[in-house]
Amino acid sequence: MDTSKITKKFKELYGSEGVAYTSPGRINLIGEHTDYNGGFVLPGAIDKAIYCVIKPNGTAKVRAYAPDENPEKVKLSSEFGLTEADKPAERWAQYIFGVVREMQKRGASIPGFDIVISGDVPLGAGMSSSAALESCVGFALNDTFSLGFDRMQLALIGQATEHNYVGVKCGIMDQFASCFGKEGSLIRLDCRSLEYEYFPFDPKGYRLVLINTCVAHMLGGEYNERRESCERVVAEIAKLHPEVKFLRDANREMLDEVAAKVTSLDYIRAEFVIEEIARLLATCELLKKGDYEAAGRKMYETHTGLSLKYTVSCPELDFLNEKAKQYGVAGSRVMGGGFGGCTINLVKDELYDNFIKNTVAAYEKQFGISPKVYDVVIKDGARKL
Ligand code: GLA
Repeated sequence: MDTSKITKKFKELYGSEGVAYTSPGRINLIGEHTDYNGGFVLPGAIDKAIYCVIKPNGTAKVRAYAPDENPEKVKLSSEFGLTEADKPAERWAQYIFGVVREMQKRGASIPGFDIVISGDVPLGAGMSSSAALESCVGFALNDTFSLGFDRMQLALIGQATEHNYVGVKCGIMDQFASCFGKEGSLIRLDCRSLEYEYFPFDPKGYRLVLINTCVAHMLGGEYNERRESCERVVAEIAKLHPEVKFLRDANREMLDEVAAKVTSLDYIRAEFVIEEIARLLATCELLKKGDYEAAGRKMYETHTGLSLKYTVSCPELDFLNEKAKQYGVAGSRVMGGGFGGCTINLVKDELYDNFIKNTVAAYEKQFGISPKVYDVVIKDGARKL
């Protein structure tokens, strides 16, 4: 994205030049709803990002402006103080406020500042626009005020912002990917130990493409409910196996031992998570061998699990998944939290054009809207521009 517009807007609004920062959205190849269960994920940062321009303003207030917000519905500007009582009314500004507050809770002293925010991560598409915003603001404040947080702390600050100021009890994947992204690499993160490994990803002869259903998803209650299901199952298993702290620490036998103690809904959700953690590890081995067809079959298995067991798909996503199968795509599945957003597809070069053309046409016919198509480019994480 060309940042000259927001740089200019900053000067126009606040009368001087600010400094620009950016932090990207993410994809996740496989490993969904595993992060808050202490499992593994395999995300990468993408070439769609949030940008900000920032400068201290010598007051105890924040003046913020977000020109991309739809002017019919929300206010583009917001002004707020820096204490807990000052939470702004505008939802987009609450992310900035939350990051400030979480930094203060960790001992940071943050004076007032001016900020302009913009970006090209599609909202509600499962590419983590909110984590990109949190990471961008966190990275910018950390640098501007020399706060001394490292990238992992910035990711955790973004996650805590979701928990405490947005109401989504998310895992660490999105903020981690936004802060740690590296051009050309996926990152295998162990969400229990927070150890990670860069995983060079250059699937020769294949392309990764996202297809956006344009069903906007807003994570909230249904996401949190699934997390609670997992936690209830862990609590039962831990009565018999105190070493089990997350579903990551459990196995199928342990799950079966508590089958009579948990609801069938909780059981089936936990079953999906235990399978998905194993599936990610198996997929990483297949990727190392360059067996993209077999890795793709794992992605289809994930879709089936997310659709039938974890029930976070929707008719539009299932339709796109079926089309991928029909046109010979190696792997396809709903990506991110679910309930809308995108499918991620691993497709052979020679099948790409036919798949996209026919799928877009079929989707338009079925649902009366055009799905959006994005080729995935894996890029660096949060940085100063
Ligand atoms: C959302 C959350 C992540 C993760 C995914 C599902 O993107 O923010 O923490 O749980 O859903 O894998």
